[in-house]
Amino acid sequence: MSKADVPISEAPYFNGFRPSEYTAAMIHVLEEDCVGVRLDRVMDVGVGAGIFLAALARLGAKELHGVDINPEAVMASTTLLSYVAPDCKISVREGDMWVGVATDQRFDVIVANLPHFPSAVTVGDGRPQSWSGAGSELLLRYLDGLPNYLSDSGVAYMTLSDIVGAQNIFSRIEKLNLEFEIVFTWTAAETQERMRSLKDNWVREEVSSLRSYGGYHFLHSRILKIKKTTKLSQ
Ligand SMILES: C[S@@+](CC[C@H](N)C(=O)[O-])C[C@H]1O[C@@H](n2cnc3c(N)ncnc32)[C@H](O)[C@@H]1O
Repeated sequence: MSKADVPISEAPYFNGFRPSEYTAAMIHVLEEDCVGVRLDRVMDVGVGAGIFLAALARLGAKELHGVDINPEAVMASTTLLSYVAPDCKISVREGDMWVGVATDQRFDVIVANLPHFPSAVTVGDGRPQSWSGAGSELLLRYLDGLPNYLSDSGVAYMTLSDIVGAQNIFSRIEKLNLEFEIVFTWTAAETQERMRSLKDNWVREEVSSLRSYGGYHFLHSRILKIKKTTKLSQ
């Protein structure tokens, strides 16, 4: 029996790492943007269930690398990838961001949907604690590592909620001699519970996309596509 014949109820599935709307948006971008591009070696930082690597494998990626601070995510993604991409080289490890990724490794595509919404309330029931965010800290650490790990012609993608102040992130990208474009924008709904539990007055003045109708809140989320800069410095 081939894998395609296996009933859906028997395919690997880990409820705590089920995709969110951010996962879905990234999948949409990868499936549109990564067709025909070099995908020899790809990396997902904060791999969760391994869905981005699974999608990249379907687009032709050969070596699938992932890292996650949560050992259950390592187990979930390794299980999923062995199932959906048995012919790929799979290397998923437990760790904090770039710590432990060999500095001589370069990736053609690097993807990240890292927690950053600075709320104590995670989205939905059954999410692990590592799914909830603390502001832009992880995003900035992700960006800081990119120049070291992205191949010269490589492309990185990241999700970004306006709640952490997009300008702060854009400035860091430019400081690192990287360039970016916003390839996808959507309006995310946030619950009253999440907005009320925001830590340290995180809603910054520059969160211009925040609109509230009573206790119902909406703000922009985006996918950024990042490359090494090709502009000559003056
Ligand atoms: C929002 S989830 C996204 C999971 C998956 N990429 C997706 O889009 O469905 C963020 C993931 O980042 C992981 N994570 C949180 N902090 C991390 C850190 N410091 N280093 C590596 N992974 C981290 C979490 O355990 C979680 O699996």
